[in-house]
Amino acid sequence: MVEAYSMQVFLFQFLLASFVLLSSVGYSIAGITSAFVRTEWPSVDIPLDHEAFAVPKGYNAPQQVHITQGDYDGKAVIISWVTVDEPGPSEVTYGLSKDKYDKKAEGKFTNYTFYGYNSGYIHHCLIDSLEHETKYYYKIGMKNSAREFWFQTPPKIGPDAPYTFGIIGDLGQTFNSLSTLDHYMQSGGQAVLFVGDLSYADRYEHENGIRWDSWGRFIEKSAAYQPWLWSAGNHEIEYMPHVGEVTPFKSYLHRYATPYMASKSISPLWYSVRRASTHIIVLSSYSPFVKYTPQWHWLKDELLQVDREKTPWLIVLMHAPIYNSNMAHYMEGEGMRSVFESWFVHYKVDLVFAGHVHAYERSYRISNINYNITSGDRYPIPDKSAPVYITVGDGGNQEGLAGRFTNPQPDYSAFREASYGHSTLEIKNRTHAFYRWNRNDDGNQVATDTVIFYNQYWASNLQRRRLKKNHCTASRIATF
Ligand SMILES: [Fe+2]
Repeated sequence: MVEAYSMQVFLFQFLLASFVLLSSVGYSIAGITSAFVRTEWPSVDIPLDHEAFAVPKGYNAPQQVHITQGDYDGKAVIISWVTVDEPGPSEVTYGLSKDKYDKKAEGKFTNYTFYGYNSGYIHHCLIDSLEHETKYYYKIGMKNSAREFWFQTPPKIGPDAPYTFGIIGDLGQTFNSLSTLDHYMQSGGQAVLFVGDLSYADRYEHENGIRWDSWGRFIEKSAAYQPWLWSAGNHEIEYMPHVGEVTPFKSYLHRYATPYMASKSISPLWYSVRRASTHIIVLSSYSPFVKYTPQWHWLKDELLQVDREKTPWLIVLMHAPIYNSNMAHYMEGEGMRSVFESWFVHYKVDLVFAGHVHAYERSYRISNINYNITSGDRYPIPDKSAPVYITVGDGGNQEGLAGRFTNPQPDYSAFREASYGHSTLEIKNRTHAFYRWNRNDDGNQVATDTVIFYNQYWASNLQRRRLKKNHCTASRIATF
């Protein structure tokens, strides 16, 4: 009797282990469409008088404070804020301890109009020559209404520099957005990779600028203390000829700076940075990218700059996903796929993050680079050199969730679920990273899709041998 029971336990454990093993090699088994249905708040924006949008007290107090990386390698920060009563100083004072602001930098301010709205004074100030892995305190504003914040610089660029990113997309400013932001802030993320569609202010004509302002105050509790790396979505375009607004990305470009010149880009809409052990390439889904355009030339050159010996993790951000099996926005990323996918495979990009579709989805490593309009190869196939494509367009904006997936689930789709949430990518060293998608769930952060990613460069046989020769930990290396 006991023996039979033991055998049952053994069989169960064997089957479970087999399932886990098969899951880890992927693609040989079907993907998962989660049936989870969550209770959610209505997809309406938080009222303007809500505390999430509270205006800081004091005459001309700086508001909407946010920071982003200011150079190529993480030794500079761009600090941005808005003043509304008068321009005030664009100066940042900073130092290594609170109340000891012994250094200063001078920025600039700008402003703009949008269909009857006059923006506040938008300040951007670069502080550079910072030390790596150091906590800095900074102060902005005038006299009694000055405000103080802090941030931590990343480790020096290096193959084993650990770092944790959050990935958020399509955030908006609803109570679901607030839930996503609050959950992200509990996650231990050190910087945010934002995959486009920020405020959804373009859904307002008369309150457009006001909703950009409220969104700036909304994210301040995170973005003033750690860099958010921006990429632009369709909601940033704001091409509204019927109200006389025809300059694309007008609000976005005035408000959200990027260090594009440090990577020799000619546009703030596409650029790259290196941070810790990562090389992050930001693309613009809504700027020309076909062959011979500036973005195409820039990416071609930038990919040659990637040094996997220094930054093993190669990550691409864009807004419209290349691989996604939701009915919403289906195939909208196909143009970019046809132009750039072969480069992503050739350069062994680790991960491509996108937003746009308001649901979560992760692919297996697949490619469709043999396809052309006269060949028969027109379906994605498993490809160990290909990136994993992840859609995190589920930040929680007022358009609601995209709940209709194509059926059956395509072979390339590993996991998909229409819930709000965010992801974290915890890079441990040159060989592996822990990845989680965290569903917002009734006040808790629930890690729903958890994967260990093995680096596309250092997991190859050649590099594995080199690791072994150099007595680094290689025993657990496998490919996913
Ligand atoms: Fe979008």
